Amino acid sequence: MIKGIKGVKDILPEDTPRWRFIEDTARRWADRYGFKEIRVPIFEVTTLFARSIGAATDIVEKEMYTFPDRDGTSLTLRPEGTAGTVRAFIEHNRAADPLPQKFFYIGPMFRHERPQAGRLRQFHQFGVEYFGTQDPKADADVIALLWRFLSDLSLPDLTLEINSLGTAADRAAYLPILMSFLKSHTGELCENCRRRMDTNPLRVLDCKVPGCRAATEQAPQLVSHLSPEAKSHFDEVLSILGAIGIPSRLNPRLVRGLDYYCLTAFEITSSHLGAQNAVGAGGRYDGLVELLGGPAVPAVGFATGLERIAMMLPEGSLPSSLPSVYVAAFGSEGSPAGVRLLDALRLAGLSAYTDYRSTALKAHLRQADRSGCRFAVLLGDDEAKSGSAVVRNMDSKAQETVAIADLPRYLLSLIQGF
Ligand code: HAM
Repeated sequence: MIKGIKGVKDILPEDTPRWRFIEDTARRWADRYGFKEIRVPIFEVTTLFARSIGAATDIVEKEMYTFPDRDGTSLTLRPEGTAGTVRAFIEHNRAADPLPQKFFYIGPMFRHERPQAGRLRQFHQFGVEYFGTQDPKADADVIALLWRFLSDLSLPDLTLEINSLGTAADRAAYLPILMSFLKSHTGELCENCRRRMDTNPLRVLDCKVPGCRAATEQAPQLVSHLSPEAKSHFDEVLSILGAIGIPSRLNPRLVRGLDYYCLTAFEITSSHLGAQNAVGAGGRYDGLVELLGGPAVPAVGFATGLERIAMMLPEGSLPSSLPSVYVAAFGSEGSPAGVRLLDALRLAGLSAYTDYRSTALKAHLRQADRSGCRFAVLLGDDEAKSGSAVVRNMDSKAQETVAIADLPRYLLSLIQGF
């Protein structure tokens, strides 16, 4: 038997209503904040991700699905949505159109991680990217959108953690200070962090290994080494969030696992998620458009993991679906009349089912019960001849005779009244 790939999941029909509800809610909130949908490809040339996410990040070093195209070009399944959106922004010369421009996307992403609850190899993100302004109000807008969206879904125990990574110059000035601290604690760091000291020292602060956390407890903090412009940018983001009632917690260790960030960085976590506790995350990336060959256009955005949201969505959140109709048609005249009736009901906008294997009323009623339909139309030869069928309420068992020609209108008004 051929099986699905580890960490790559089917979303079965019993789960799709939950997914559609989350996606519909995401679209509604994106729309309220003025973000327009963009659909970028699932695979791109590898250099796009290596250059934007950073060659020394976990994603690029060990998690990308990379393969040669037939002509030898190296391609990669997208591990995230920002790089492709920026590539499309540059390629379609969007900077020549009035700014700001605001995009959102929903779709699958691919990372070769060790699968566990809430961590998959194919997962789905809802993300937004806001191009063309450095105004801290845009950062606050993006964070507010993420917070409002997750709160609207009633996800439990959300915490917004926030930090400032300063400007590139701030980081350049801070790195030697951090390095001299790390060098005096090298012996206490895990092997991975010792390696990171050479490639990506900021990430040492983000290590989850208890020994590394203890060793870096007293490490100098980037947020205490911000330039006045970065500090006032950060202060304004915090003050807007406060003004609109979104609680945030400063986390000076928050550095993010992608290299393109500057200034604001944030993550929303939930204690309900276990080890993989980030529901969504993002930040500002003012240099990325230019780094990928475009003009200097600042930007800020986030992405949120839909599997993690689906895991946390409280029971009973889904709106109940509209009741549907079962057509129990049987007999040499009833059966063809049933086929015509199903067509008429569907054209009228109703959800209508039958089981073509059932040839007698009893078998049909069993199927109607199983299908969960609220109403059944009983249509045998006698009914077909007389031009009227019996509508049965499957809960109350009450029955009523209605002209077949009137059934679409009759059932529609009955169901809309539910
Ligand atoms: P990220 O932090 O790598 O950021 O991912 C964002 C979210 O995607 C995570 O918080 C998590 O909910 C979800 N996620 C990531 N990896 C997995 C996985 N293996 N399985 C399940 N869920 C996962 C980004 O991707 C940036 N592009 C966000 C961004 C947009 N920054 C600016 N604009």
